[in-house]
Amino acid sequence: MQLPLHEMCESLSIIVGEWRGSGSGHYPTIEDFEYTEEVIFGHSGKPFLTYGQKTKNAKNGDPLHSEQGFVRVTGDATLELVLAQPSGIVEIHQGSFAVNASACVINLESIHVGTSPTAKPVNRVHRLLRVDGDTLTYDVAMAAMGEPMQHHLAATLERKQK
Ligand code: HEM
Repeated sequence: MQLPLHEMCESLSIIVGEWRGSGSGHYPTIEDFEYTEEVIFGHSGKPFLTYGQKTKNAKNGDPLHSEQGFVRVTGDATLELVLAQPSGIVEIHQGSFAVNASACVINLESIHVGTSPTAKPVNRVHRLLRVDGDTLTYDVAMAAMGEPMQHHLAATLERKQK
C-alpha cells in the first residue's frame, strides 16, 4: 500500500513521478555526447524523496551514466541531496527551492564530493533543476579532472503520463 506523501515533501510534490527525455554533455577533456534519460522521483511516505536516474547513449542505445539517491526536505525552502554513482563518485548537496502551483526551481551546491580510489577526480558539483508544468530541465556543472567549475550536462525531460 502506497502511503501518502509526507507533509515535509508536499511542497516538492510537483517533481514526484517519472520523467523521460534527452540531453547533451561536454567537458574540455572529453568528446561531446548525446544521451536519452529516465528519471524517477518516488517516495515511501517518509520525509525524503527517492531519486533514480539512468541514461543511454543516444547514438547506439548503450547504457551510459546512472545514479541513485535521496532528496531530504529539511525546511520550507531548503533541502539536501545525497547520491551515488557506479563510477565511484558520491555527492552530498545542500540547496534551496522555490515553488508555486505549476513550477519549481531547485538549486543544489555540493558540500562534499567523495571519490573511490579508482574514480576520476571530481571536486565540486552544481545542479540546477527546473520544473515547469510537465517539463523538467536541468543543468549540471562540475569542477573535475583538474578543470575549474564549468558546464557538463543539460537535459529536457517530459513527465510520463499515468
Ligand atoms: C546524465 C548524466 C551523465 C552522463 C550521461 C555523463 C556522461 C559522460 C560521458 C559520456 C563521459 C565521457 C566518457 C567517460 O568517461 O565515460 C563522461 C565523463 C565524465 N563525467 Fe559524466 N556524465 C553524467 C553525469 C556526471 C556527473 C553527475 C558527474 C560528476 C559528479 C560526472 C563526471 C564525469 C567525469 C569526472 C568524467 C571524466 C572526464 C574525463 O575523463 O576527462 N558525470 N560523462
